[in-house]
Amino acid sequence: MKKNKVFVACDSTNILKIKRIIQDTQNTKIKIGYKFGLEFINSKNGRKFISKLKNKITFLDLKINDIPNTCLATVKAVKDLQVNYITIHISSGLESLKAVKKVSGKIKIVGVTTLTSIDNKSLKEIGYDKKINSLVLNQAKLAAKAKLDAIVCSAKEVRLVKNVFKKEIITPGIRFSSKKNDQKRVMSPVEAYRNGSDWLVIGRPITNGNIKKNIQKLINHLSQ
Ligand code: C5P
Repeated sequence: MKKNKVFVACDSTNILKIKRIIQDTQNTKIKIGYKFGLEFINSKNGRKFISKLKNKITFLDLKINDIPNTCLATVKAVKDLQVNYITIHISSGLESLKAVKKVSGKIKIVGVTTLTSIDNKSLKEIGYDKKINSLVLNQAKLAAKAKLDAIVCSAKEVRLVKNVFKKEIITPGIRFSSKKNDQKRVMSPVEAYRNGSDWLVIGRPITNGNIKKNIQKLINHLSQ
């Protein structure tokens, strides 16, 4: 049977903590990749640490959101890290997405739709007229048009997105207890895979507290 796949969000500035996350998430049941976001990449030793990481699936969550020239220059600037995935906000626009794809080489470019911490109320606050589902569907169409390699959305929108985007789907906002933190559009791991997520992104439910126990909890949850 194919293994379930999880990107563990390595959200810390502490190298020792990141090392512990990597060590304590090793297991034989779930395929694990490591996601490094703005917090770690911008920390004093974060970039260097990523550059030395070997034999791991790596995800650089840069969430680039800029004009085409800056987007493509940013991807070029991190090429030496030889990561597997890099994120760009789809709201950067079609030209930025295409520009990045032109220079990305072997790196998979992941389009980020509306953040999982956003709900319809926050969308309205920002000034969008569309509801979440219709905005995410539109963003997925744009990702397909730009031939992106993967998309990030909430597990709630996976079935919808699959109608227009045929490649990898990665879903954060995953919870296997009632604690949502700052996330709004959440789902359990079982539900997310059932909907068709290829990869889940999980941070705090794994990295807060006893990491080994949390991984076991996740494995138990998935085998129910
Ligand atoms: O701790 P938690 O499981 O909420 O972490 C989720 C991770 O996924 C964070 O690193 C966050 O930056 C990232 N992410 C997200 N929602 C998106 C894209 C990325 O939560 N739409």
